[in-house]
Amino acid sequence: MNMENRTGQDPILEVKNINSFYGKAHILHDLSLEMERGTVAVLLGRNGVGKSTTLKSIMGIVTPKSGEITFKGQTITGMPPYKICSLGLGYVPEDRRIFTGLTVMENLEVGRRPPREGFEPWTPERLFELFPNLGNMKNRLGGQLSGGEQQMLTIARTLMGNPELIILDEPSEGLAPVIVEQLGETITRLKKEGVSILLAEQNLNFARAICDRVFIVDHGHVCFDDAICNLTEEVCELHLAV
Ligand SMILES: Nc1ncnc2c1ncn2[C@@H]1O[C@H](COP(=O)(O)OP(=O)(O)O)[C@@H](O)[C@H]1O
Ligand SMILES: [Mg+2]
Repeated sequence: MNMENRTGQDPILEVKNINSFYGKAHILHDLSLEMERGTVAVLLGRNGVGKSTTLKSIMGIVTPKSGEITFKGQTITGMPPYKICSLGLGYVPEDRRIFTGLTVMENLEVGRRPPREGFEPWTPERLFELFPNLGNMKNRLGGQLSGGEQQMLTIARTLMGNPELIILDEPSEGLAPVIVEQLGETITRLKKEGVSILLAEQNLNFARAICDRVFIVDHGHVCFDDAICNLTEEVCELHLAV
């Protein structure tokens, strides 16, 4: 196990020089990032730069042709997604799929996985403290929830798997500003509970409000990597302006 790293802290996730493809299309070019345990990190970047492909590569949905990904010091490159999940990674994809014919409670039960040593396991009761709206609609069918409620339910269901690191692909997309604000509070509370969080986002203000670290992705490569407080307008203009 290689415990060395640049900052000398405690990285939960390290992505080293990965190259990912769809068929012959080369999407990620030597993409690297490193995330500290207990922090919230964000991949920012324009549409189509490779944010979702990076998250899919971490989850084993896309297998990088070269490079290495380690989670808690263990190499996970090439592992199937279910195995990566079982190590303590949770993933909420862009399409935030819920079971529309199951109730809120049943959706949560589907996500239940064994507890993780050293962490208090998530239960529906504990999750309803974090997501009071869901607690008020336990028996409602998933298909009857609003977009914001469905997004909260996908996050809650993923937490039922007791992940140490949760990956959210554009969680604020399509949500009303007041719901985005609630989502931000939820993410901040999760961080306080000790969950590490990696998100892909296009909403710069949302990212600034909740994240510790930023990785800007452009053309399948991380071109800026720093504390989010060091993200300057010049950098945003260069890599994020459309
Ligand atoms: N399943 C796929 N097959 C082929 N090309 C894809 C597929 N998914 C994404 N792409 C392409 O890969 C590039 C990166 O996409 P993606 O990672 O989804 O970007 P982002 O999440 O930053 O918007 C885009 O050019 C996109 O068209
Ligand atoms: Mg995407």
